[in-house]
Amino acid sequence: MGDLTRAERMLRACRGESVDRPPVWLMRQAGRYLPEYRAVRAGVDFLGMCRDVDRAVEVSLQPLELVGTEAVILFSDIFVPVVGLGVDVDFAPGPVLAKPVRTAADVERLVLRDPREAVPYVFEILGRLRAALDPQSVPLIGFAGAPFTLATYLVRGRGDPDRKYPELRQMMAETPEVARELLARLAEMTIAYLNAQIDAGAQVVQLFDSWCGILTEAEYREWVLPVTRTIVAGVDRSRAPLILFASDAPHLVSAMLETGPDVLSVGASVDLAEAVRLAGGRASLQGNLDPADLARPRDEIFARVAEMAAQVAAARGWIVNLGHGCTPETPVAGVRAFTDAVRALGA
Ligand code: CP3
Repeated sequence: MGDLTRAERMLRACRGESVDRPPVWLMRQAGRYLPEYRAVRAGVDFLGMCRDVDRAVEVSLQPLELVGTEAVILFSDIFVPVVGLGVDVDFAPGPVLAKPVRTAADVERLVLRDPREAVPYVFEILGRLRAALDPQSVPLIGFAGAPFTLATYLVRGRGDPDRKYPELRQMMAETPEVARELLARLAEMTIAYLNAQIDAGAQVVQLFDSWCGILTEAEYREWVLPVTRTIVAGVDRSRAPLILFASDAPHLVSAMLETGPDVLSVGASVDLAEAVRLAGGRASLQGNLDPADLARPRDEIFARVAEMAAQVAAARGWIVNLGHGCTPETPVAGVRAFTDAVRALGA
């Protein structure tokens, strides 16, 4: 067991097979907290960087050596395939739409195209990454935004610092058929997009439903659970396990597990031991260090990782990660301490 490659360890942990120690990576591991990322990003806008295959490949790979992460996630954004639907999106720094999606006619204009034609650069980046990573046996992660989280931005036209998204709630209440059609189209897009990523070399895929925690459990069951189930069923999980993520949804752990993901990625507000109890043998877990904890001293980060390991002792599998992404303020030394602490679990 001691000589598992990083790819084997990751895939085995996702599927609940035995491992020597858990694998570790971080959401938003390629980002502005790294001076090397800022250097590559200088002089290009964010979408330009997502389309620039050389730069995107370079920043995707940076965290491997710089902070010791054990998987690479495609550098892109959940709004890149939305650009492929013909939506005019800009980043400032979060996604901003020229025209929000509010009416049945707006939804009708979201025309599904083959993702390989709509956003060919994504698949070129994946192919280049896989070729770079295979000799080192490092796993490659693809991803997509989940329909509800995409819709929070699409319907409002931008993010909402208050996390209330009144425009989407109004659409769900007043024109539920429009909201349902929007979510259904985004689900169809997401299935095609993730399967194309698997064809291009992604070995694991993560579905980011970052903001679904704003819903009550009853609302989640009505609006999101069936859509997520469709995606889980439509993605070729025999070739790539699926990780389902929400950033702050302790009340939804049970309902999210019912969608059938291989791995549930939980936020820092979730009690890990309780999540393990709810998941049982159905799913592995990913998470859930509070990104703010990366600012703590190295020995405290080691202690937090050991504490999490004790809480997940009975899990069928565990992928060590944060509860949400790295931020521009994340200290590089804290990220390094975090990945070192996980390797120390196997010592
Ligand atoms: O995890 C990774 O490193 C992979 C790449 C990735 C990015 N965004 C790069 C990015 C992934 C998986 C995302 C997902 C994403 N994007 C989500 C869901 C996950 C989450 O964080 O909750 C959401 C809601 C978005 C939309 C988005 N993109 C926002 C709100 C912002 C602005 C906030 C911010 O952090 O700047 C972005 C921009 C963005 N996406 C950056 C990066 C590295 C910063 C771009 C830059 O200025 O260099």
